[in-house]
Amino acid sequence: MAFGFFKKSEKTEKKESTPAGPHYHNLVVQQVVQETKDAISIVFEQPATKISYKAGQFLTLIATVGGKEVRRAYSLNSSPVTDSDLSVTVKRVEGGLMSNWLPDNVKPGSTVKVMEPMGHFTTEFSKTNKRHLVLFAGGSGITPMMSIIKTTLVEEPESICSLIYANRDIDSIIFKNTFDQLQTKYEGRLHVIHVLDNAPVNWQGHSGLLNHDMLTKILERIPDWGIGSTTYLMCGPEGMMKNVQTLLEARKIPTEKIFKESFVQGTIDKDAKKEPAPVGGSGPRAHEVTVRYDGQEYKFVVEPNRTILETALDNGIDLPYSCQSGLCTACRGKALSGQVKLDEEEGLSQSERAEGFVLTCVGHPMTDDVVIEIG
Ligand code: FES
Repeated sequence: MAFGFFKKSEKTEKKESTPAGPHYHNLVVQQVVQETKDAISIVFEQPATKISYKAGQFLTLIATVGGKEVRRAYSLNSSPVTDSDLSVTVKRVEGGLMSNWLPDNVKPGSTVKVMEPMGHFTTEFSKTNKRHLVLFAGGSGITPMMSIIKTTLVEEPESICSLIYANRDIDSIIFKNTFDQLQTKYEGRLHVIHVLDNAPVNWQGHSGLLNHDMLTKILERIPDWGIGSTTYLMCGPEGMMKNVQTLLEARKIPTEKIFKESFVQGTIDKDAKKEPAPVGGSGPRAHEVTVRYDGQEYKFVVEPNRTILETALDNGIDLPYSCQSGLCTACRGKALSGQVKLDEEEGLSQSERAEGFVLTCVGHPMTDDVVIEIG
């Protein structure tokens, strides 16, 4: 790299791109469950030293596909309180590298490299909580909801869950049988409302798109515990998320009561990224960045057309990351000083942005005094 350099405050050593350090695990596949025609769950054995996680978090799976390392984030559908194993669900995406490689290659007994669980799409559970969780899920956005619902039903005996779950058709409903069983077991505490784009003739549930009218109709029919005792969670395709967000805003639901998880669709087209705006001078220029991570301090220069994460990886600095799209927050750090411009801010909440959190995978330093602390 023409103008790049990096300095490390402690002993500098060459690292592999995915070292078996404390943030990585090699997990053994116990079982592969065919959930629907195009979705599987991969169930991993917990290693001897158990991996702890929170309901709603995701695992980043790492594999070599076509000679290149690929990382993808998949939400855990298992619950840390009800399941002894770790399980993620993978739905095939047309043209998707990892989403097709995994079902074609992973078998019971296979070993898959993963990063430790991450993510902020979760909620604090307490035996004394008495609340109503209203969960909106579309397609494979159901995965973290399954983990959160199982955890809530056990950890919060006085809380209830209403799940509004949209799918293309009846055959694409992931976990349908499990939800039927949970509704019977926790009668009165779990209410699942299915919405299908294309419903069969004898369908008893809702049919049509999960748009404003449909959402309004459904919200009128679920229990009303009042704004103070209700928490809203959503995960699904962008259109669905926007519809839900608009409706909740119109109902004046405070932002701290709303939790969102954006779909992670993999690495974005780097050429489609916006150029960071120049700060003074005749155009964008390189800036030095300091990153503190894992007890180390790294300094390196980031060229204007590169992100902080890309430059760190180019220099053999093993920072955490997954989607490289500004959505999963695996690369989140806090800017202690300086200005950082983000190409994509969707993964961060308003309060995270206000507190100075940044995403290194879509972040460009705009000043020479940027210091970022990760972890
Ligand atoms: S790696 Fe996913 S947001 Fe940066």
